[in-house]
Amino acid sequence: MSESFLKCFRCGKEYTINRKKYRCDSCNGILEVRHKLGETWFDPGISGVWRYKKIIHPSVPDEFIISRGEGSTHHYTHRKVSEWTGVDNISMKHEGENPTGSFKDRGMTLAVSEALRLGVRATICASTGNTSASAASYSSIAGIDSYVLIPKKNVSRAKLAQAIAYGAKIISVSGDFDSAMSQLEAIIEKNHEYYLLNSLNPWRIEGQKTIAFEIIEKNPDVDFISLPAGNLGNTTAIGKGLMELKEMGVIDKVPRIVSVQAEGASPFYNLWSGKTENLVPVRANTIASAIRIGNPVNWEKALKSIRSTNGIVMAVSDSEIMEAKRVIDSAGIGCEPASAASVAGIRKLVDEGLIDRTDSVVSIITGHILKDIDSISAMDSDIELSSFLSSSGLEIPLSVAHRP
Ligand code: F0G
Repeated sequence: MSESFLKCFRCGKEYTINRKKYRCDSCNGILEVRHKLGETWFDPGISGVWRYKKIIHPSVPDEFIISRGEGSTHHYTHRKVSEWTGVDNISMKHEGENPTGSFKDRGMTLAVSEALRLGVRATICASTGNTSASAASYSSIAGIDSYVLIPKKNVSRAKLAQAIAYGAKIISVSGDFDSAMSQLEAIIEKNHEYYLLNSLNPWRIEGQKTIAFEIIEKNPDVDFISLPAGNLGNTTAIGKGLMELKEMGVIDKVPRIVSVQAEGASPFYNLWSGKTENLVPVRANTIASAIRIGNPVNWEKALKSIRSTNGIVMAVSDSEIMEAKRVIDSAGIGCEPASAASVAGIRKLVDEGLIDRTDSVVSIITGHILKDIDSISAMDSDIELSSFLSSSGLEIPLSVAHRP
């Protein structure tokens, strides 16, 4: 007897976890995983995502679990980041330390284990890059074929290279992520052979909840948790995780989620700030290609996460994102552009007076610095050897000076 079930987020209809389709038959709403929560929420002898098996997937037999040791990522503090944001107690939780270099691995270990348990033949996802890299890796480890729909333009070459190398079949789609996502939904609607690995898959959310669990274990008094927002799976997951901890009596005070979009891709911000009544899709455009998403599929769930944590949704410009990235990079920590939005958002909230210097803040750094090197201009830091030598008062060594 499974301790978990699926429930439509919109109409409440329930399904068993053996269902492979993650939209409701009655109302087409998205499904979420529900568990019967008990008293214990982690196993102290295990680290990483599966430490929390009891509240992410209590009934999956161990022989189906595909894991690469994801989770247990580090928190970093740095004077430069504190000075730039104006918050003394800000730490960055670096999800780029996960096996394929982004937070997606936390959700993928759950979703691909579930794919194996359900006996699917192939997995499929649409992606701005990181999901596809993670899906390809975990599917190949499980021995399952993987297909990824990638926008033809504007996807980081590093992420695409990962997906190819890990063995995914790449389907390139003209148009952006949003059109890839809607074409993907049309494909799986007709063909149940393909198992969806986007964050519409509710098991992805269960895995990503563990970011919140790790933060609370380390810092139960945290005031704000900030993160970049695209398809809104992670905003959903952090909120769901926090609310479950509250329901279990683990925390009294719920930290406020700060969900940060790029200005050129901010339909969720438009909704939250009252500019629109419903989520109105936009044509997305931002340098932060990971969050270049104009029609986020998880917006209803994410709205609940924001409301139930008294959260904040905001938008930052590309120049604010890149300024934050330069600060994080030069602090020796490093991240891809989208990740820097979480720190840029905090600085803006300090400027607006919504966050105090003394508040405790955790910013989630979602992806590794090497995920998008095209965004780093090497020339910015280049110094000609001759000017280095003359500014340092050094002589040009003979062996160098006379080399033909
Ligand atoms: N940060 C990074 C590095 C991402 O890759 C993504 C999403 C996000 C933030 C936003 O997270 O979608 O849960 O709101 N990347 C997806 C992908 C869409 O296909 O890799 P979200």
